[in-house]
Amino acid sequence: MNIGLFGFGVVGHGLYEVLQKTPGLQATIKNICVKDKNKQREIGPENFTYDKNDILNDDSINVVVELIDDADAAYEIVTAALKKGKAVVSANKKMVAEHFAELLQLQREYNVPLLYEAAACASMPIIRNLEEYYDNDLLDSIEGIVNGSTNYILTKTFSENLSYADALKQAQDLGFAESNPILDTGGFDAKYKLQILLAHSFGYIATPDEIFNLGIDNIGELELKYAKEKGLKIKLVAQAFKGADNTISAFVTPKFVTPEDRLYNVDDVFNGVLTKTYFADTHFFVGRGAGAYPTASAVLSDISALSYDYRYEYKKILRQENLSLSNDAELKVLLRHQKDDAEALKLKFNTVEEAYLNNSEGYITGDITLNNLKQLQQQYGTDVSFILINVVKETKSASTAQVAVPA
Ligand code: HSE
Repeated sequence: MNIGLFGFGVVGHGLYEVLQKTPGLQATIKNICVKDKNKQREIGPENFTYDKNDILNDDSINVVVELIDDADAAYEIVTAALKKGKAVVSANKKMVAEHFAELLQLQREYNVPLLYEAAACASMPIIRNLEEYYDNDLLDSIEGIVNGSTNYILTKTFSENLSYADALKQAQDLGFAESNPILDTGGFDAKYKLQILLAHSFGYIATPDEIFNLGIDNIGELELKYAKEKGLKIKLVAQAFKGADNTISAFVTPKFVTPEDRLYNVDDVFNGVLTKTYFADTHFFVGRGAGAYPTASAVLSDISALSYDYRYEYKKILRQENLSLSNDAELKVLLRHQKDDAEALKLKFNTVEEAYLNNSEGYITGDITLNNLKQLQQQYGTDVSFILINVVKETKSASTAQVAVPA
């Protein structure tokens, strides 16, 4: 394999080193395309080009590895490479999530693979497992911590009392955070990853607008105090589960997790994903969710997979039966609010369990639909904050699953 590499940042440089240390893999980086001519780099300028066409038009390059952080530029590069019949490996979750249907179409039309294991949960091989292992055992739900930066920030602020700004700065310095950290802290990066996981677990291709995402940037003292008093931790959790009538619920929210929850001990930059299947019960994946070598290891695995002609078959997309996303899920949440808004907010809850007020603010705990939660978020903005306590839903039994097994 002759590789044309785009990007030589944290992950690109990581891949360069990882490839040097993996001589068994018959893959050589022939050219590296970067944007900034003046940036000081660890290897000489003879390794680099500044013109993407030097790679795209080079017929001896048969694999393009795209590791830049600009999703729009990545889209141009990846689509051009696929159209030229080059296999592509990408780590760009925003690009893959935003253009999923088109990228799938291009792979079919030009009969070339696009692999992106590093785009979701970095080192953790979750996409290939969802695509291959859970082919026959029907999945009921996936739930997990899929963003390393926010998990790092939550761990450092909550357990080690670091300030939010300092923890974010550390996540940036360690190369975990996106160039625009709002993508991490606002739950957008987690949402893009959830979109990708949704396609490979349930065969549903969602647009980013369809999936509700809350981040960690509006978590206040009251919620932290609540968590500490009850022995809970707050994690940013992405989840998707099947409901009645061919529906799926999918959303990203901060969540209180109990010490019994397997996500409780997934700290720092680690990611963890729980899959629940009808017949096998639960599986738990854990691994480093960001950083140079862990992300490069997933890219390396994709490059290696190309050597034996691996490609995603998108089996579940091919056989999915009119699934739709639903906002009807009922969630038990803690809602923090301004003092005067309490009564109006209570009306949006199906049931109110507890209500607390001090001189300036308060919280309500109780059951609310995802739909109402989205509405309140739009209406009240940063005047409210929600933390998920748990999902109030019916769990399907293996006997109902039998009815649902596709022919
Ligand atoms: N910013 C991302 C994260 C990088 O923190 O998870 C890995 O996708």
